[in-house]
Amino acid sequence: MNFMAATTILLLLLTLLSTATSSSSSPDEQLLLLAFKSSLHDQASPSLSDWSPSSPTHHCNWTGVACTPHRSVSSLDLPGLNLSGDLPPSLCSLPSLSRLDLSRNLFSVPLPLHLSLCPSLLLLNLSSNLLWGPLPDRLPPSLTSLDLSHNPSISSQLPPDLGTLTSLKSLRLQASGLHGHIPADALLRLRSIELLDLSRNNLTGPLPANFGSGLPALAHLDLSQNNLSGPFPTDICNGNSLVELSLYENSFAGPVPPAAIQRCSSLERLQVQSNRFAGDFPSALWSLPRIRLIRAEDNRFTGRIPASVARSASLEQVQIDSNEFSGEIPPGLGSIPTMYRFSAPSNGFSGRLPDDFCGSPAMSILDVSRNSLSGPIPELANCTGLVSLSLAGNGLTGGIPRSLGRLQVLTYIDLSSNNLTGGIPEGLLGLKLALLNVSFNRLSGAVPLPLIAGLPASFLQGNPGLCGPGLPNACEDDEGGRGQSDGLTIAVVATAFAVGFVVLVLGFFGVYRLYRKGATSDGWKSVFFYPLGVSEDELITSLDEKSAIGRGPLGNVHLFQLPGGGLVAVKKLLNPGNLSLRTAKAEIGTLAKARHRNLTRVLGFCYSESALLLVHDYHRRGSVGDVLRSSGTLEWGVRLRIALGTARGLAYLHKDYVPHLLHRNLKSNNVLLDDDFEPKITGFGLDRVVGGDASYRLPMAHGSEPRCYIAPEHGYSKKTTEQMDIYSFGVLLLELITGREAERQESREAPDIVKWVRRKVNMTNGPLEVLDPKISSSSQQEMLGALDLALRCTSVMPEKRPASDEVVRSLESLHSVVNPPEIYSGELPISS
Ligand SMILES: *[C@@H]1O[C@H](CO)[C@@H](O)[C@H](O)[C@H]1NC(C)=O
Ligand SMILES: *[C@@H]1O[C@H](CO)[C@@H](O)[C@H](O)[C@H]1NC(C)=O
Ligand SMILES: *[C@@H]1O[C@H](CO)[C@@H](O)[C@H](O)[C@H]1NC(C)=O
Ligand SMILES: *[C@@H]1O[C@H](CO)[C@@H](O)[C@H](O)[C@H]1NC(C)=O
Ligand SMILES: *[C@@H]1O[C@H](CO)[C@@H](O)[C@H](O)[C@H]1NC(C)=O
Ligand SMILES: *[C@@H]1O[C@H](CO)[C@@H](O)[C@H](O)[C@H]1NC(C)=O
Ligand SMILES: *[C@@H]1O[C@H](CO)[C@@H](O)[C@H](O)[C@H]1NC(C)=O
Ligand SMILES: *[C@@H]1O[C@H](CO)[C@@H](O)[C@H](O)[C@H]1NC(C)=O
Repeated sequence: MNFMAATTILLLLLTLLSTATSSSSSPDEQLLLLAFKSSLHDQASPSLSDWSPSSPTHHCNWTGVACTPHRSVSSLDLPGLNLSGDLPPSLCSLPSLSRLDLSRNLFSVPLPLHLSLCPSLLLLNLSSNLLWGPLPDRLPPSLTSLDLSHNPSISSQLPPDLGTLTSLKSLRLQASGLHGHIPADALLRLRSIELLDLSRNNLTGPLPANFGSGLPALAHLDLSQNNLSGPFPTDICNGNSLVELSLYENSFAGPVPPAAIQRCSSLERLQVQSNRFAGDFPSALWSLPRIRLIRAEDNRFTGRIPASVARSASLEQVQIDSNEFSGEIPPGLGSIPTMYRFSAPSNGFSGRLPDDFCGSPAMSILDVSRNSLSGPIPELANCTGLVSLSLAGNGLTGGIPRSLGRLQVLTYIDLSSNNLTGGIPEGLLGLKLALLNVSFNRLSGAVPLPLIAGLPASFLQGNPGLCGPGLPNACEDDEGGRGQSDGLTIAVVATAFAVGFVVLVLGFFGVYRLYRKGATSDGWKSVFFYPLGVSEDELITSLDEKSAIGRGPLGNVHLFQLPGGGLVAVKKLLNPGNLSLRTAKAEIGTLAKARHRNLTRVLGFCYSESALLLVHDYHRRGSVGDVLRSSGTLEWGVRLRIALGTARGLAYLHKDYVPHLLHRNLKSNNVLLDDDFEPKITGFGLDRVVGGDASYRLPMAHGSEPRCYIAPEHGYSKKTTEQMDIYSFGVLLLELITGREAERQESREAPDIVKWVRRKVNMTNGPLEVLDPKISSSSQQEMLGALDLALRCTSVMPEKRPASDEVVRSLESLHSVVNPPEIYSGELPISS
């Protein structure tokens, strides 16, 4: 026997003694509460610190305690306090205790059978604990509300005697590991039951016969996410006033008989999705007076939506995807003033869309894709709240309605795989679209430029008549021959790609042979702008696989420790062939003279006919990318300083340094951090060494390189610009704000951080959702300011992006409070 049990017994004895000698109940009740506290494990003490015999307050005022007017404990509400330990029978000695809520704690004991002895208990809430063992056969007969949900270890069958709880109004047993059949008479005497939740268990088999008739007070029934089978319970609305029926994700089969539904005059929510129901969908359902939600997707329902649906005054949400509905979409459906979602893809609806298909300002999601609809898309003028429109995979004809451009919050448009003709309306440019898919139609004419730039061209594909830069067809416009020359440019670029690739492959072979020979320094010449204290021999022989810290399209990066302890990075570049030692010296000299606190120094280079080794500073902390990917957390103040420093470095390259330089490959892996988290941009201006085309296009062609740093206009723009660097900077800034990698291949949502952020930001609460959750909310205002800037930097239209000096000013204004360094908690990421 442990100390606690002994204490409990001692206190109980005291209790009994005092009960025998005193008529006032209060002090005894205080002892009972203290006995309960002593049966709990220690970690409870902080939350129940005022539960103490020396406490100046009356025990009726203790945490979680409430009393009757006669100062007898009537309720114990102690949810979510991490309590664990025993649930002693002495609690039942509190004569007035009617409510016991110990939910969301850590009690890990067998289901406390003895609590069934509590004489006055009405509500018992033990949900979300770690209780185990079978459900007791006997429960307090006076109970009106029993919640044992979310105790996955209960793992029990439903006891046949549950039905003795004739006063029970609410029974919640969801996610409690229940399995087996529902016994025929377990529930049939729950005459008072209003809410019954058995969802998320492993119950199997059919429902007992007369299931509904036995539950005359039932209002909310949730049997979803089990493995129940058999027919729809036809008597479910017998004489009760059922409001909510959830049968989804089970194996129910057969029809839903119309007669069963007709009686459900109070039904508001019906969820029968993901079962094996079949047969005509009960048409009475559509005109039930209170129906708000119908979810029936993923079944095999047939039949039509009756015209009477137009009179519904309550329908809000209908989802009947992937069934076998047929007939027309009835007029009036889209004008039901309460309806905000109608989703019916993958059915057999046919005929024309009614004129008022999108007729209500409440409507926000419309999806009738993959049906057999025909005729034109009606003007969608009155549904000003529409966010998502999917009409893909039908046989719709005619043009894209101009009215789409006036729907201010429209974000997703999928009109793909129809027979639409005409052009893409300019009006769509005014929308903040996240997706426009008009592929596989018969559209024609010039595509508005920003659409090409902002959205991958594949969403326009399969429209042979569309023309524009980057598309298979150039437009024949009145500037005479320009279109043709665009086509020519594309051909030239394509050839250049092919040739470039061959050169690259040959080059690799050359370098490979060179190193296989044993990395001799024969034929190497070196130029050092700073004294490094090493010879090119030492540098060259050190460049083996082990020292490689990064692999890039232009060559690998190796780390080299100088005799003095400092680190330098050696970037191995292929000599494009036409670069003489003299030009290399001039060009790399130009890079070396670019000196700024936020640029890495170019220290020197080694030259041979086939390769160049570019030597620059390296820093132990690695790159911004390394630090963001590691497990530690960078505080916002540090991230903002990184953003600001990077912007200053970039502005120096763009504006102050002569000649002006472009970075052309800015990304989080190209910004190193020194010991004080001061950012140092590296890898800038390599176009001067390997040629503009290679430096910009090779990273794009290289499969493993993130593409999302590349501005969308690269596809049609002939020259690289400062705005493209600003786009890349915007992507880096988004990484700092969200803590998310720029590109996530495994993310089905959106691999590209810009798209991901845009989608989220367009939703309510969106901006807050993208902020890195690891950062305290006190930085929220600054982060939102930075987010706004990042969105401008990543604008689809280059001319809308701020210049680099403007970026610096914006960040400086955010950076009002300069935070001290050394806030990094985690291992130093040195190299990978
Ligand atoms: C409970 O505390 C309040 C003030 O906090 C006090 O007014 C009241 O008298 C106390 N009740 C008892 C029973 O001690
Ligand atoms: C419960 O424990 C968790 C984890 O230890 C802790 O985060 C939480 O603050 C605790 N809650 C209370 C009320 O003590
Ligand atoms: C039981 O407690 C949980 C969590 O504290 C709460 O969500 C639930 O509504 C309660 N159940 C009843 C029947 O009051
Ligand atoms: C249901 O049973 C299966 C197989 O016995 C088990 O893997 C699963 O965890 C159970 N699910 C629940 C919710 O208890
Ligand atoms: C559901 O029940 C079927 C038989 O009715 C059984 O084959 C299947 O394994 C069950 N699934 C689970 C998860 O228990
Ligand atoms: C749009 O609303 C106006 C005014 O309520 C109404 O007259 C018109 O018929 C509606 N148009 C459609 C297509 O529903
Ligand atoms: C589109 O129109 C063509 C020619 O009129 C027809 O052959 C084709 O079946 C139509 N496509 C669809 C999806 O209706
Ligand atoms: C665009 O539509 C086509 C044809 O329906 C489809 O194959 C493609 O996956 C769609 N793209 C997106 C991003 O939705």
